[in-house]
Amino acid sequence: MNLLFVSSECAPFVKTGGLADVIGALPRALANCDVDVRILLPAYREFTELLKTGTQVLAIKKLFGGPASVVAVNADGLDLLLLHAAHLYDRDGGIYQDKDGQDWSDNHLRFGALSFVGAKLAAEGLIGWQPDVVNAHDWQAGLVPAYLSQIKKPVPACVFTIHNIAFQGRFDSRLRVDLGLDERLFTQEGIEYFGDISFLKTGIALSSKITTVSPTYANELLLPEFGMGLEGLMTYRQKDLIGILNGVDLEVWNPESDPLIDANYSVRSLAGKKVNRKEIENRFGLTPAKDAPIFCVVSRLTTQKGLDLLLESVDELVGLGARLALLGSGEKWLEDGFVEAARKYQGSVGVIIGYDEPLSHLMQAGCDAILIPSRFEPCGLTQLYGLRYGTLPVVARTGGLADTIIDANDAALAADCATGIQFYPVTRAALMRAISNACEFYKDKKLWRGMMRRAMRQPVSWDRSAGLYAKIYQQLSVKTKSKSLEK
Ligand code: ADP
Ligand code: GLC
Repeated sequence: MNLLFVSSECAPFVKTGGLADVIGALPRALANCDVDVRILLPAYREFTELLKTGTQVLAIKKLFGGPASVVAVNADGLDLLLLHAAHLYDRDGGIYQDKDGQDWSDNHLRFGALSFVGAKLAAEGLIGWQPDVVNAHDWQAGLVPAYLSQIKKPVPACVFTIHNIAFQGRFDSRLRVDLGLDERLFTQEGIEYFGDISFLKTGIALSSKITTVSPTYANELLLPEFGMGLEGLMTYRQKDLIGILNGVDLEVWNPESDPLIDANYSVRSLAGKKVNRKEIENRFGLTPAKDAPIFCVVSRLTTQKGLDLLLESVDELVGLGARLALLGSGEKWLEDGFVEAARKYQGSVGVIIGYDEPLSHLMQAGCDAILIPSRFEPCGLTQLYGLRYGTLPVVARTGGLADTIIDANDAALAADCATGIQFYPVTRAALMRAISNACEFYKDKKLWRGMMRRAMRQPVSWDRSAGLYAKIYQQLSVKTKSKSLEK
């Protein structure tokens, strides 16, 4: 069974968030289910060196204003198909935004091109490799089924995966012509969205199946509070929608062997965690304290993540004797607010603004608890890393956070099955109650250790979820095959 992934990110090569982690990990797990995945990615500047080592498998004379090619390369155990189109991707700046934080003005073409080539590869295949199904991820790949629908021969079915419905790839409808999309697609059932074009909406409307990254988020997407305007369409497509939890790449995120942390440790021997904690205290300028936990945050700093509520709670958190180590970047007012809090509470609050992959591992290893007060969270990966590293997640009860953490309520404590703390509603008061409960639990060393060990033993691998994806691909590929036989 051959599968084509179309995505704008893939760890460890290019990452701004959890999408990259998923694209870098799921193909490895799918390989164990006999699914051979190739990943189509834009060849951003990060790929300059890798491009030189690959083999050109497709050439396109002109793709939205310049020449393009697809270069196949195996790196880090992944089969990548790099879409080399220098006029679109070889730039100084971010993958979505320029150096000033403005979206690239031609993002519709950059990701339209990705989708176009995704559809072309799905339909035509490569010498010796024909995809049975294509899985397009997030808005950047949302036009794949639109371009597939313009190909006049039987084509593989498309699965569309929603990692976050908040990012919809919405553009002026006049750009349809530049994108080479037929006028007949500009309908409510197709690419049209409130008079504009939406890439995400297109993916949802035109794909055979839609997946999202947790069962709870799949339910939430039907509600106005979470559907972000697409709840009607989600409800209409409900029968083809399935929520499948993300997993963890157990090789990359393993406290027993992680090369990015100061001391390795395991569920049997937790001693190394203390060494990492020392290093966290050094790096964040935190004063050692025995009976109070270090909470950490590793996150985009946005209102999605509810970090404004944490900012408003810093005084109280410090008042409880707890400490906070925060690594993140994002909205300027949140960055400034946390920097100011660190200045005000030197020794108790440490803040590093930026993106630092190695430090994110050290924080999971050296902190006691990880705070994730998200207003919505399709799945969330940092709570899963927290479980694995015995850094207990304190999370809002929403989306994937609700599905992965067992709240330390009285029943769970009595049954010895708690793995963290959940709170609801997502308010400052509820967050503060959760933080205060965590501080109380922390004082009871036996209780805390028990929760840590249980958290570390939670099954967070991709195995089960990969099986669920594989099943969907199998069903669709059988359907497509029998359809094309009928023709
Ligand atoms: P989202 O994709 O919504 O940002 P996830 O929890 O799914 O949230 O994934 C976030 C990923 O990005 C995790 O791998 C996390 O460790 C990483 N991450 C987020 N912010 C930073 C940062 N400032 N430095 C390093 N890694 C980060
Ligand atoms: C999105 C979501 C996050 C999810 C990630 C990977 O970025 O915000 O919750 O874990 O995608 O699926």
